[in-house]
Amino acid sequence: MALAKQVLDAINKQINLELASAYIYDAMGIHFAGEGLKGFAGWMAKQAAEEKKHAQKFISFLLDMNEQVRLEAVAAPKQSWESALAVFENALAHEKKVTASINGIMDAARKAGDYASINLLDWFIEEQVEEEAIAQGIVDALRFLADDKGGIYALSQELGKRE
Ligand SMILES: [Fe+2]
Ligand SMILES: [Fe+2]
Repeated sequence: MALAKQVLDAINKQINLELASAYIYDAMGIHFAGEGLKGFAGWMAKQAAEEKKHAQKFISFLLDMNEQVRLEAVAAPKQSWESALAVFENALAHEKKVTASINGIMDAARKAGDYASINLLDWFIEEQVEEEAIAQGIVDALRFLADDKGGIYALSQELGKRE
């Protein structure tokens, strides 16, 4: 069940990117908590937990395939932003980067005729459509609200209800 080297290396790199994503969302949550926007902070904490699960999904796959998991150092994230909009624009840009990375692994898996990886990556491609749409929706709402602090607080409270 050995994976092509290119696919294996890319999945190991992706594990690091998913863990870096968790770290980035935790940093965003900490920032929001400091700004008194507890709802956004809670939403970010749940997002970070989801990214940790994505990393785990790739790790479990490599273990199931009897392949080597290589955990690398996770880069320190940015920790302050000038507005809630700037935070979510950053999150959206990050998700686009993740989507491009998943697409790149899919290209390698297809070239290698690696059906097991293709099947796993199909799930991630669907997940990324959702991740980008959610981030884009929040960016759109914050652009609409502009400097309306009451509206931003209400949006934060609303997103804080996330399951
Ligand atoms: Fe992810
Ligand atoms: Fe994500």
